[in-house]
Amino acid sequence: MRNKTYLLLSFVLVHWGCQETPSILIDKNLKEVATFPIGLAVQANYLTNLRYSKTVLEEFNSLTAEREMKQNVLMPEPNTYNWIYADSIIAFAERHQMRVHGHTLLWHSSIPYWLDLFQGTDAEFETLIKTYIQTVVSRYAGKITSWDVVNEAFEDEGGELRNSLFQRRIGDDYVAKCFQWAREADPDVLLFYNDYGLVWNKSKCEAVIKMLDDFENNNIPIDGIGLQMHISDNYPRNSDIEKAVDLFVERGLKIHFSELDVRVNPNGTATELTQKLAEQQFRKVKAITEIYNTIPTAQKSGITLWGLRDNESWVLAHWGNLDWALFFDEKYERKLAHQGFLQAF
Ligand code: XIL
Repeated sequence: MRNKTYLLLSFVLVHWGCQETPSILIDKNLKEVATFPIGLAVQANYLTNLRYSKTVLEEFNSLTAEREMKQNVLMPEPNTYNWIYADSIIAFAERHQMRVHGHTLLWHSSIPYWLDLFQGTDAEFETLIKTYIQTVVSRYAGKITSWDVVNEAFEDEGGELRNSLFQRRIGDDYVAKCFQWAREADPDVLLFYNDYGLVWNKSKCEAVIKMLDDFENNNIPIDGIGLQMHISDNYPRNSDIEKAVDLFVERGLKIHFSELDVRVNPNGTATELTQKLAEQQFRKVKAITEIYNTIPTAQKSGITLWGLRDNESWVLAHWGNLDWALFFDEKYERKLAHQGFLQAF
């Protein structure tokens, strides 16, 4: 009975009065208030749009290629590199003194078609991957501050290494080898392991921690961890995000909230971004930025938004329903989510 009264009381407090009502209090750009790099995933062709690039320059100080530095784009045919798109993003960043975080040297979802069909021996495959990684890292040495070396190497269930082409051809130590190859190619670039689900998937998180232990025991270089942060307004819980962040902070790694978007329509029932949904998104963005703010300064490598405008977000095609996961609407207007970030400082 006491429990029920308590629940009722907290429900009343939260819904009538004691929960902060978001409003636009601060008229600033993200980069004006952020005490760490604030990044955006861009596509090269978007940057040629003046309205788009103006917003990017006003709000952000770090860039990541949403697609253009993935292996299927950089090496579309055997022995053939296509640098055009990646170079244009680097050139834009250089012109405007922006940081570049590289994404991603290896990912099971961006394997070029011809590599899947590769007929050579395992040793030849390994040499090809080593050469690929070292060619890309060397080309952008001094221009790219940090690289996601391997993306999403673990299965969702059971804490196993993902059964990928790289794992099958090179073996279970392929992740460690990739970090060593990247380090050989550039002694200064920061090396990150990037994945999703590390906050809510216990077996995956444990597998990554075990990998970090192995790296430490075998002197494999790694500087940071990217927590992808494709989240929803109601999931995962803030307390779980805090716990995961603490785990990686304790290990002395740099922490990147690497691919932030906050879905508000995960079950597909909404047909528009209502005030209520926008407010829920505000609260989630504010909460996770507050969590990020607790990380020691030297371990903050930044927060990267996975897209600028709601209508450009990958979540639309990926999940197949309407959503408004980003900080800007289709008209480049700032949303309450943008304000949520500002109010965390
Ligand atoms: C996505 C891009 O947003 C899409 O445009 C592309 O077609 C596929 O990749 N996790 C990652 C990112 O690490 O590279 C993915 O980006 C989104 C999920």
